[in-house]
Amino acid sequence: MESYMMSVDNVTMKFGSLVANSNVSFNVKEGEIVSLIGPNGAGKTTLFNCVTGFYKPSSGKVIFNGADITGVRPDKIAKLGLTRTFQIVKPLKSMTVKENIMTGAFIRTNKFSEAEKIAEEVMERINLIEKRDYLSSSLTIADKKRLEIARILATQPKMIMLDEAMAGLNQTEIKEVMKLIVTLNKQGMTFVIVEHIMEAIMPISDRVVVLNAGVKILEDIPQNVVNNDEVIKAYLGEKYHAKNQKS
Ligand SMILES: Nc1ncnc2c1ncn2[C@@H]1O[C@H](COP(=O)(O)OP(=O)(O)OP(=O)(O)O)[C@@H](O)[C@H]1O
Ligand SMILES: [Mg+2]
Repeated sequence: MESYMMSVDNVTMKFGSLVANSNVSFNVKEGEIVSLIGPNGAGKTTLFNCVTGFYKPSSGKVIFNGADITGVRPDKIAKLGLTRTFQIVKPLKSMTVKENIMTGAFIRTNKFSEAEKIAEEVMERINLIEKRDYLSSSLTIADKKRLEIARILATQPKMIMLDEAMAGLNQTEIKEVMKLIVTLNKQGMTFVIVEHIMEAIMPISDRVVVLNAGVKILEDIPQNVVNNDEVIKAYLGEKYHAKNQKS
């Protein structure tokens, strides 16, 4: 039997009569980059919230490294090695870059000096060291997104879930984030990525899971996903067809 780092097993999340996730299942192996795509409102962020303990699913199960983490608190899940970023970046504005990153490190240690050391290492690793004393409110959007990734790296995760870490970035900045993901992945980090920017995720993903209206409609390698009719219709939609008709 194949062993998975994470199994999402039939997760359903209802808000009243709205079914945001309907019996969604997929597995992630250690060392993989799995992307989760789908149109606005498809249920991607909701699924992240269910997996990382911010919501308790209405039904279904989430297994991480052999432990049932369904409905377990986010900080406990982070301690087990699973952390995520948020679609809307909200760094603690009155703190410096270093202090923000240290808040991540404090799930591993109570000692200030230890947390400082972890933060320093992370800043070196992802090129924020020169901005260590900047107030996070003064950072560009690109650096805020980097800071968000740095803060979760400081929790020393085994798996990182990114919710639109590239939204609002320019081409150069997107390339930088892609490079960072690939570098961390080569060092052993496992990723689940929600992203709308196809050019960014297709080249780096091992597999892609497609959600539409809360339902998983496809799971396949990137080449097959971009050529799948149902995906084109549900997601790439108008833009893709318009482009095709022109040429
Ligand atoms: N806390 C909530 N209460 C009620 N409805 C919610 C809640 N969170 C999400 N929803 C609804 O669930 C559906 C899925 O939303 P979700 O944010 O998961 O989509 P998404 O795929 O992340 O979209 P986007 O690409 O725009 O970020 C939407 O219809 C949304 O309005
Ligand atoms: Mg979302």
